Order: sequence, then structure tokens, then C-alpha cells
Amino acid sequence: MIRGAGLFLFLAGLLMPAGRLCTAQEHAPYEPTLASLDSHPLPQWYAGAKLGIFIHWGLYSVPGWAPLSHPSHDFTSADYIKNNPYAEWYLNVMRIPGSPTQAYHREHYGANFSYYDFAPIFNRESKKWNPDEWAKIFRDAGARYVVLTTKHHDGFTLWPSTTVNPNPSIPQNERHAERDIVGELTAAVRQQGLKMGLYYSGGYDWTFNSGPIETAADYEAAKPETQAYGDYAFAQIHELIDRYHPAVLWDDIDWPKTGRPMQVEADYYNAVPDGVIDDRFGIKHADFVSPEYQNLDKISAKKWEECRGLGRSFGYNRAEGEAETIAPADLIALLVDIVSKNGNLLLDVGPEDDGTIPPVQMERLKALGAWLKQNGEAIYDTVPWERAVGKTVEGDDLRFTRKGSDLYVTILGAPKGRTATIVGVAARPGMQVTMLGHAEPLETRAAGDNLQVTLPAHLPGNYAYVLKLAGYAQ
Ligand code: GLC
Repeated sequence: MIRGAGLFLFLAGLLMPAGRLCTAQEHAPYEPTLASLDSHPLPQWYAGAKLGIFIHWGLYSVPGWAPLSHPSHDFTSADYIKNNPYAEWYLNVMRIPGSPTQAYHREHYGANFSYYDFAPIFNRESKKWNPDEWAKIFRDAGARYVVLTTKHHDGFTLWPSTTVNPNPSIPQNERHAERDIVGELTAAVRQQGLKMGLYYSGGYDWTFNSGPIETAADYEAAKPETQAYGDYAFAQIHELIDRYHPAVLWDDIDWPKTGRPMQVEADYYNAVPDGVIDDRFGIKHADFVSPEYQNLDKISAKKWEECRGLGRSFGYNRAEGEAETIAPADLIALLVDIVSKNGNLLLDVGPEDDGTIPPVQMERLKALGAWLKQNGEAIYDTVPWERAVGKTVEGDDLRFTRKGSDLYVTILGAPKGRTATIVGVAARPGMQVTMLGHAEPLETRAAGDNLQVTLPAHLPGNYAYVLKLAGYAQ
């Protein structure tokens, strides 16, 4: 059923209105209408990529701090907003009277130190940053694409934007990074064979509507909708499209209606036909939906991408350590779970102001990379099977993925027994069962409607173990 729907969507995406198969390249030009935008096929590279690295880096990386009092993200309560665990919201929270961030700021920088005074420090520290090192780290973590914040809600841009910001209160030299961070990282990432995507905060720009946001109602009210802002955002995103040709156009929060969101999307597809657009432009079209710190509980025919930090924040939070950072086993289980349900994981790192990736985050990236090196076959370029989730008789949690006629069954965590009896997966003639990372075929036998597999005496690797049922999904 799900497989049928997936196949239908896939073919519908490839078929021109005239019924002819086309590639994304052949389709252009796109028009600023929903019908035209919706005819954009989901590019295979994105469907198969499964893992991207998100990077939140900017002025907020200088103080790099947020309170730890809210371990989960409920977003809407005033107490949450005042204690926002997202360190990239520092500018907002430091202006909320009585907030811990306000106290932190006064203690470390003084009441007269403005947020934009972080710009000279960021510019000085970011001179130490080596984009090639980052690109290699992300490649070694197993990512196939990268998405960088080019402008977060504070309005500071990581490229030397030539669009004039009409707000006179922020000095010109405190509005953008001195280095062309976007350009340098784009080049380095592409050199490693990865795709480069760009995040832009279209919905909020605190140089246009400073807020602060203190209650859930303010989330909406804080969106600048003036013509001046619409023109500004429109010009800036066109700078990004023209200069860097991003493979992902990742807008955040919303897009000003005065900034013509459909025109932006059509212009983007015409410039980058095999690019993808998220679902935060405030219009109905999207190549993928973007739940944040949230898992889907079943297979979704619509492509989705979960974004989350390695810890509780996207931007660097020096208060976070081991306890706040996802454990390697949980991270790997999360990736496998997402992929089994037709998702990608956009996993965020929050570097320090000089580009250092915090050691707790590096460790996770390394664990993920090592696991994917052995088991990536069950992840990359797979599609969901009939079911995402399963169990063994022995009590193991399973996730399924499929590539061609091969079914991959991933055991999450250390297997509970010497055998894994996969519930509801019957033995089939001609099928061969192996474990990725283990050379010899495994012994199997039918146990009623289930398939009992004898596991290797020494398990290869750690965290999660993949059984490959070659030829199962005929
Ligand atoms: C949210 C947050 C933001 C973060 C983003 C990532 O909208 O405001 O800080 O950049 O989502 O998904």
C-alpha cells in the first residue's frame, strides 16, 4: 500500500503534464504558481542522501550560552521562551527582563555591551576557521549534504551582502561577516563531493522588528511585513541563489508576503532545477516537510527531514556537555528510524566562534561516520519497505529499509539473544542472509511465519546491526 503510493508519487514527479518522462534540468522554466512549483520532481540525490549536517554559526556563537532548565521543546509557554534552550536566540532572551540570559550577559559583558558588539569578536575569531577541515569532518561523518545559516534571526549575514539594510541603528561593519563564510564553505563542501545548502531566516529579522518575543502571541507579531523588508529579503535570497547556487534553499519561520515567496521559489528552481525547498515559506509548496526535534511515527509518502541539534540547541551552548548531548547509540537509532519512514536527518552542529566543533559533538560525528562506513548500504539510496518498524521474538527492536530486491533489517542496540527471529518475515527460496560487516552468510530457518537467523558469535561494530536479506523483496 505504502510502496504503491510511494511509486505513484515518484512517477508523478517524473512525468511532465504531457506524460513524458523528464529530468529536473529539462523542466524549467518554472512559474510563480502553485501548480508550476508542485510539478518540481523530488531530486534523487536528496531522496537518497538521508544525512545532512546543519550548521548554526554567527554572533550568538561568541557568548555561546543558554539555560538548561527546559530539556524538551514546548516552544509556546512564556517560561520556555524566557529560558529558551536555543543559544541562537540569545539576542531575544537577553532582552527579556529577569531572564537568565540577561543575567549572564550582564555578568560577562556588562549592561552596556550590545549584541552587535559581538561582531568584531566574531570577525576576529572566525579568521582562525578552516573550511576544509569542516568539510572533511562532515564527509567523514557520512553526510551527503550540508546546510549553513547564512542569516539567522539576528540579521547578521555570513556573506558580504551588498543589499543595504535600511535600519540605521546597526553600524554597517556589524551587519555581515568579514570573511565570505558562505562562499568559502560552499567551495570546500563541494570539493569533498557533498551538496551545499543554505538556510535563510526569512520570517524573522530582528534588525527590522526587534521584539523581543516574550509570549506565544509574539511569534506571529514579530514577523516584519513591510515592503522595505520584503524587498530586502527578496534581494538577499537572490544574492544567495545567484552567487552560490545552493542545492537546498532552507527558509525559516515564514516568508514576508511583500517579498513574493512564489517568485523566489520559481526563480530558485530556474537557477537550480535539482535543488530542494523546505516547507517554511508560508505557501503550500515544498519538496519536503521539516519537523524540528520531532519524529514521525509512521512512513510518510511526503519526503520529510527532521532537524535537531546534537544537544538541545542549534547554536553553540557552552553549558551543554555529555548529559545534554544525544548518546551515540540513540543517534544511530534515530537515523535508522527516520530513514525507515522516508525521512532525512539534518543533524546540527553548533561550532564555537573560532570554528571549533565542541569535543562532545565531534565524538558523535565520528561514531556516526564509523557506523555508516560499515552499514551505510542499509541507509543511503534506500526506500521504505512495507513496514518501518518490527520486532524479534527475542525482544529486539527492528527497522526496515529496502534497496531493489534487498531488504535490510536493522537491530537497534545489542541483540538480546544468539538468534534474531524476525516476526512476520517469512523465509523465501533463493534468499541469502548476511550481516553487514561480517563476511560469512548466516544460518537461517523458518519458524512458523517468522525467520530465525543465527547471529555471528562476534558482532561486527556496535550500536546497531544490519541483517541483509538479499533477494527477499522480489
Ligand atoms: C527554529 C528556530 C531556530 C532554528 C530553526 C532550525 O525556527 O527559531 O533557532 O534555527 O528553527 O530549524
